[in-house]
Amino acid sequence: MLLRKLVLLKRSIFRLLFIIIILLIAVIISIYPPFSVQRVTLDYTSPFSRRDSPQVTSLPFPIPKNYLLIPYKEFVLRTSIACRMFKFEYPQKNPLALHPKYSKYLNGTFRFVIPSKKISYDDIEQFYTDLSSPKYENQEFVPTHTSFASDLTFKNVPYVYKNGMWQPIEVRSFQRTAILVPLQGRDYNAKVFLLNLHAFFRRQLLTYKIFIIEQIYPQNKFNKGRLYNTAFNYIRNRSSLNITCYVLHDVDLIPDDDSNYYTCETKNPKHTTSRIRQLIKAQYVKYYEFLIGGVLILTYDHYKALNGFSNLYWGWGGEDDDLALRVVQQRMCIIRPPAEAAIYSALPHQRGQRNSQRFDLLTWSTIRMHTDGLSNIENLTNIEEIKVLTTVTHLKVNVDVINDAGRSKRTSSAPLERTKTTTLETLFLLKKKDT
Ligand code: BGC
Repeated sequence: MLLRKLVLLKRSIFRLLFIIIILLIAVIISIYPPFSVQRVTLDYTSPFSRRDSPQVTSLPFPIPKNYLLIPYKEFVLRTSIACRMFKFEYPQKNPLALHPKYSKYLNGTFRFVIPSKKISYDDIEQFYTDLSSPKYENQEFVPTHTSFASDLTFKNVPYVYKNGMWQPIEVRSFQRTAILVPLQGRDYNAKVFLLNLHAFFRRQLLTYKIFIIEQIYPQNKFNKGRLYNTAFNYIRNRSSLNITCYVLHDVDLIPDDDSNYYTCETKNPKHTTSRIRQLIKAQYVKYYEFLIGGVLILTYDHYKALNGFSNLYWGWGGEDDDLALRVVQQRMCIIRPPAEAAIYSALPHQRGQRNSQRFDLLTWSTIRMHTDGLSNIENLTNIEEIKVLTTVTHLKVNVDVINDAGRSKRTSSAPLERTKTTTLETLFLLKKKDT
């Protein structure tokens, strides 16, 4: 009897010990996980507490189970967003729908013109109107001495302004291209851009139209995403232009090589700003692999699939990284031209105010992409003035109509509305493939 009791007691002790050991192992695994999942303590101040957030109530907290949390900076430095297997869409040489590759006016690399600071939009208008006048017909070069530049050596490519677009006279272009250039306070850059880029587009025999999209309100915080979305809406509603390709272009970047073709590839967007040099330094610099800012060329279908840019980025930086995350989320990749062609010079300008919230916003980028972007731009902005020249259509945009009602009550130096900066390491969400 006693022996039986002893045996039972021993078994119980063993069971207890077994349970304790299992518990210990579980505790150790939870503290030092044997797999490489990053442990994250969420001390997160939601960027969605902003007044203009469309999605305050449907935040995905806690983080959905099928999402991996990855440090954003690690991701952008290590991940390639470039398409690996693709063919450029160079059609056969066809004079009735000419691809820029076959233009006889291409120069390779070229020197661009830095005009005097006094140059005006009207000067540029006058210059290109003169160039397209019949008196210069059949003249290859028009050496022009103007009040704003002394050594212009532009090739006079025969061009005509017709139905709102510049078109080459000799051929029909492969695509119809809108160039969108957001602007706030960099007027001189805009003029240098216009003077040089018209010549560049003509050497490529593009049918094109340039839009400057200037933010006139608010004056103290820039929202590039809203400007692009507004311009897309504007152009979409002008179906007679029949635009087939959109170029999103920073105002301070001048392409340095004519074989950087400003054409859309139909399957994926194209990023052409692989290397940039500052005017004062001769060296070209490559930024990070994930960058799609600077110059991005895409179709309306691409832009729509991405729901355009987020409307939530105020100040300098982040909106292009957000778009890159949307590209990944939509299972697209980015086409890049050959490295030797994708080079730019950057014009000098004052640096804009950095957006200190951009990494917070990037964290939840892909979750809100379908409700924040082109789809809700109409309620947020208003084009207050449109100035049409042949060399540029200038849209002046109020990008914050919701808060404009109280404009007169506020002082002009009203501070940027900010949410508290998070202590959480910058993260973004990569949706795990369903396994
Ligand atoms: C910003 C981007 C910018 C890039 C290159 C990044 O830190 O978030 O908006 O295009 O730097 O200057």
